[in-house]
Amino acid sequence: MDGKFITIEGPDGSGKSTIIRQLKKHYSKKNVDILFTREPGGTQIGEEIRDIILDKKNTMLGKEAEALLYAASRAQHIHELIEPTLKAGKNIISDRFLLSSLAYQGVGRDLGVEKVREINEFGLKGIEPDLILFFYIDPETTLKRKFRHSKEDRLELEGNAFHNKVYNGYMELMNKYPKNIKKIDATQSISQVKRQTIEAIDAVLK
Ligand code: TYD
Repeated sequence: MDGKFITIEGPDGSGKSTIIRQLKKHYSKKNVDILFTREPGGTQIGEEIRDIILDKKNTMLGKEAEALLYAASRAQHIHELIEPTLKAGKNIISDRFLLSSLAYQGVGRDLGVEKVREINEFGLKGIEPDLILFFYIDPETTLKRKFRHSKEDRLELEGNAFHNKVYNGYMELMNKYPKNIKKIDATQSISQVKRQTIEAIDAVLK
């Protein structure tokens, strides 16, 4: 039987990275075999594409090329890692996947959700997450959290208007395509978010 594919989504500053670190510890202690990966990236080629996309120097990068680079990183991720791993019966948790492109490029960059879905579909090989965990948190709260960080990448440097659009995009997408999406209130304490995330993952892994 194929492994389960779980993705974690949410705006910048939603606390995904903190929770993912905790998930790694939790499941390794329990001896549950899960491959943790991320987008953009996850493979050597994907990580090289990630560097291009997030490099602050790349101010010339156009939104169409940006969307195609995310899609290319994802296509390689599926080809080299996600599909073979799931086929081998192993479970995967990915920090971001297709929904990020639909929200950031489709809505945030105004390329259109359907257009962005189309360019991605070419590389998806029909693979869909069994569960999408969406960490929802309003832009005001993420903004306050952001001030605690100093190193920002090209996307994080985008203004508030962009991040508000991404947030609205995520909300719109969740209402339009609620399939397999579980919302987690990311304004709660880390331990509450962690507990609810683990409950949702365990329900799918059973
Ligand atoms: P990520 O490493 O998850 O950043 P963070 O941990 O700070 O949330 O993602 C890098 C950035 O890339 C992030 O700003 C979201 C953006 N992104 C897109 O715009 N489209 C995509 O398809 C993906 C996967 C990420």
